[in-house]
Amino acid sequence: MVKKITVLSGDGIGPEIIKEAIKVLDKVCALYGHRFEYTYVDIGGCSIDKYGVPITDKGMTLCKSADAVLLGAVGGPKWDSCPPSIRPEKALLAVRKELGLFANLRPTRLFSQLSGASPLKPAVIEGGIDLVIVRELTGGVYFGARSTKEENGELVAHDDMNYSVHEIERIGRVAFETAMKRRKKLASVDKANVLDTSRLWRKVMHELSAEYPEVEYSDVLVDSTAMQLIRNPATFDVLVTENMFGDILSDEASMLTGSIGMMPSASLSSGTQGMYEPIHGSAPDIAGQNLANPIGTILSAAMMLRYSFGMATEADAIENAVDAVLTDGYRTGDIYSEGMKRVSCTEMGTLVANYLK
Ligand SMILES: NC(=O)c1ccc[n+]([C@@H]2O[C@H](COP(=O)([O-])OP(=O)(O)OC[C@H]3O[C@@H](n4cnc5c(N)ncnc54)[C@H](O)[C@@H]3O)[C@@H](O)[C@H]2O)c1
Repeated sequence: MVKKITVLSGDGIGPEIIKEAIKVLDKVCALYGHRFEYTYVDIGGCSIDKYGVPITDKGMTLCKSADAVLLGAVGGPKWDSCPPSIRPEKALLAVRKELGLFANLRPTRLFSQLSGASPLKPAVIEGGIDLVIVRELTGGVYFGARSTKEENGELVAHDDMNYSVHEIERIGRVAFETAMKRRKKLASVDKANVLDTSRLWRKVMHELSAEYPEVEYSDVLVDSTAMQLIRNPATFDVLVTENMFGDILSDEASMLTGSIGMMPSASLSSGTQGMYEPIHGSAPDIAGQNLANPIGTILSAAMMLRYSFGMATEADAIENAVDAVLTDGYRTGDIYSEGMKRVSCTEMGTLVANYLK
């Protein structure tokens, strides 16, 4: 199969981790007879330095025409003082919007080999942590109208939160379909005891649940979910929620595994196109030192194969290779513990590629 991938390496450790993911993808091509055509586009700070904008129109067109987009990370202290309109992360919001990426999938899995890295007590993680948060990405309060104006002699700020039936329904479908491919359990997270948007959310989810009788469906309040994630994370399989709740809960969930460098994510459209990226940032503190953990990016590439290219076997092969490398005791600095074999970013990428079957 021939697939076009637009590669956005970005800033900081971005180019280092992307290089290792490409190494693994090249090995997939060699083993399974595919051809991946890569087009590299500057994004974030490096694009601001070259072109004065965080992504050029030409770069955006190349994202739109690709079968999938693979991203490293953007940003860093050098660009912190840029005006809001050209900040590095502006480019990410623009790509999400232009490509219609409304669904963000964040799998959170505690690798048993790394259970010592979790901040939770061993008794709490006994049942394992293996869940996916499906977050609505293009609606809600982050995209509503906002203003700050003087009212009755003081400043008052407003942020509007809107959700329409079709926005809720399309993210709901992604969540139910995701649950169908996993343990068939879905928790819909809302604040229906307070918010109208949540009450509509709940109504639409209930209607959808009738179409998926095999999925064990439940409604949970966001505050209770934040607590349950810490108290008993094994109860969750798939969670679906709106933009802001998802933003907060997915960061909380990722910390349960204690290793930000390991976590992948996918942002999906209504078609097969998607953008795939590790959940961490550009880690300027370790950039250029060959210290970064490339596994989050490598696992994001595996998600790209599964969700955009329909290559489930190849995706499984990458995930199994990562598992085997960890089982054999190889660790980058961020996940290192005594008695393990410490490796660089480059070595970790080579190991995963070599373990691929
Ligand atoms: N999607 C993105 O591109 C994205 C996401 C978050 C933050 N950022 C940007 O990244 C920059 C740095 O942000 P931050 O420091 O808050 O978060 P960060 O995720 O970059 O780093 C937080 C900590 O985790 C470590 N870390 C992160 N990824 C790692 C990896 N793969 N291997 C080993 N260690 C890793 C870093 O060294 C640092 O100590 C900021 O400019 C921020 O805006 C970008």
